[in-house]
Amino acid sequence: MDKLNYKSYRIEAENICVDYHGKVALYDANLRLKAGQICGLVGMNGAGKTTFFNALTGFVNISKGKIRINGESLKIAQQDQAIAYVPQSEGIDCQFPVSVWDVVMMGRYGSMNILRSPRESDIQAVKDAIDRVDLMELSSIPIGNLSGGQRKRTFLARAIAQRASILLLDEPFAGVDIRTEKLISELFIQFKNEGKTILLSTHDMIHVREFCDLVLLINKTVVAYGETSEVFTPENITSTFGGMSPDVSFGPES
Ligand SMILES: Nc1ncnc2c1ncn2[C@@H]1O[C@H](COP(=O)(O)OP(=O)(O)OP(=O)(O)O)[C@@H](O)[C@H]1O
Ligand SMILES: [Mg+2]
Repeated sequence: MDKLNYKSYRIEAENICVDYHGKVALYDANLRLKAGQICGLVGMNGAGKTTFFNALTGFVNISKGKIRINGESLKIAQQDQAIAYVPQSEGIDCQFPVSVWDVVMMGRYGSMNILRSPRESDIQAVKDAIDRVDLMELSSIPIGNLSGGQRKRTFLARAIAQRASILLLDEPFAGVDIRTEKLISELFIQFKNEGKTILLSTHDMIHVREFCDLVLLINKTVVAYGETSEVFTPENITSTFGGMSPDVSFGPES
């Protein structure tokens, strides 16, 4: 692959493998995403979706393969704050006395100095992010006092505040109501139009059809990957789910 072509991908994972204590969780997985693409990561529980995210962020080491972000190593991507990640579970003690504002400001830490004193630009980025998820009225509330859906929006705002070009979202729709679901879907389309690259996992097949340009079907390895219109077929979905067909409507053409 020539260098120029290589550089044109925001995310490039080549034959990556992850094992936990010798047990394979992900093998020979490939993914390539460009600017302005939304890709859905779909697979059953335990299929390796979170593992894939953790490999792309460097939270777990890959035992084989190669990951390039904007044509560079993960280390450089981390230094550049190129990836914002919204994990499946927040990994933060919700009784810890921090407000929505404080959590969203954490999205700015990577680009602050060691004293973490916010500049005007950090304050503006936090305001914008809180506004985009419609939480301004709750910005001073401790996160322990939020509902699950409000907390989800807070962590999404933290990622938005980072102003990264790549967004990784592990089950962003889990446990949110219809209004929040709509707000989040609309945000994803805005991010795409702003040229961001988005990889999101979901168990909701409707979302994949609605706004994912690409889909990666996963069952410890890539079962199928490509444009949603070509790859997201009942046959591929059934084989991804080990012969079970999840309850999903394919519309009049199927
Ligand atoms: N830290 C870990 N240590 C050991 N095994 C792990 C660890 N994390 C995940 N696994 C195992 O790796 C496999 C893939 O898990 P992963 O969390 O990536 O699945 P998933 O597709 O995200 O599932 P879900 O839909 O339930 O979130 C599972 O068999 C899981 O038990
Ligand atoms: Mg998971």
